[in-house]
Amino acid sequence: MLEFKNVSYKVVDEKTGKERYILKNLNINFPENKVTVITGHNGSGKSTMIKLIMGILLPTEGEILLDGQALNSLSISERANLGISIALQQPVRFKGLTVRDLLNLASKSHNKIPDACEFLAKVGLCAKDYMDRELDDSLSGGELKRIELAISLAKSGKVMLFDEPEAGIDLWSFDSLVDVFDNLKNKTVVIVSHQRKVLESADFVLLLNGANDVKLGKKKEILPLLEKPSCRKLGGLVNG
Ligand SMILES: Nc1ncnc2c1ncn2[C@@H]1O[C@H](COP(=O)(O)OP(=O)(O)OP(=O)(O)O)[C@@H](O)[C@H]1O
Ligand SMILES: [Mg+2]
Repeated sequence: MLEFKNVSYKVVDEKTGKERYILKNLNINFPENKVTVITGHNGSGKSTMIKLIMGILLPTEGEILLDGQALNSLSISERANLGISIALQQPVRFKGLTVRDLLNLASKSHNKIPDACEFLAKVGLCAKDYMDRELDDSLSGGELKRIELAISLAKSGKVMLFDEPEAGIDLWSFDSLVDVFDNLKNKTVVIVSHQRKVLESADFVLLLNGANDVKLGKKKEILPLLEKPSCRKLGGLVNG
């Protein structure tokens, strides 16, 4: 079970010296082995929330736990060894490393090459065209995003975090993207998304509407809240 216990993240404005809570005193139990989609307006703290889980950022107060184990003192790689993985909103490019290198590093399987082809196929890429490509500026934004998704699938941890996986992915590929998440069984999957189709594929939805305004519930309880005008004004849903 992945838990937030009284978790806050605050920043200090460099110019004014004023403190601002991005997330404040949050207590959340992420449903185990279910897909939870985090949604909320731009700047509401969604990326911050999953960066805190991965250890890219550290809470300024409170504790994050996985199966009862406190994570705060663990590095990103120690968390990765516990089975936590992340696909970032803006994937990092690695000049000099190929798609093959990164999939091999990520995969724990012995059948690395056939599996790598399968992961690429799942995200709609043809292995023969992409295996030897470098993760440099020559890849388009959508290609890079798909490769990052394939790398996440290859890591296959017990907690899989995805930040706006649909960003840059063309609408025609949406259904197969949603299928990828549908097929992640027996994993705690946390996806940040604004997209209706991704939200509809969730088991649970976490609506972030302010630093300490979080609603987590079954999809059928939370989605109707997003249809309300006040929520639409704050970002609402994007069809596609
Ligand atoms: N170091 C920092 N200093 C000041 N403000 C920060 C800092 N880091 C993040 N923020 C602010 O925290 C807020 C939350 O950022 P975050 O990236 O988590 O938003 P988000 O919900 O993922 O938004 P989006 O939908 O646009 O991706 C934003 O207003 C951002 O400007
Ligand atoms: Mg974000």
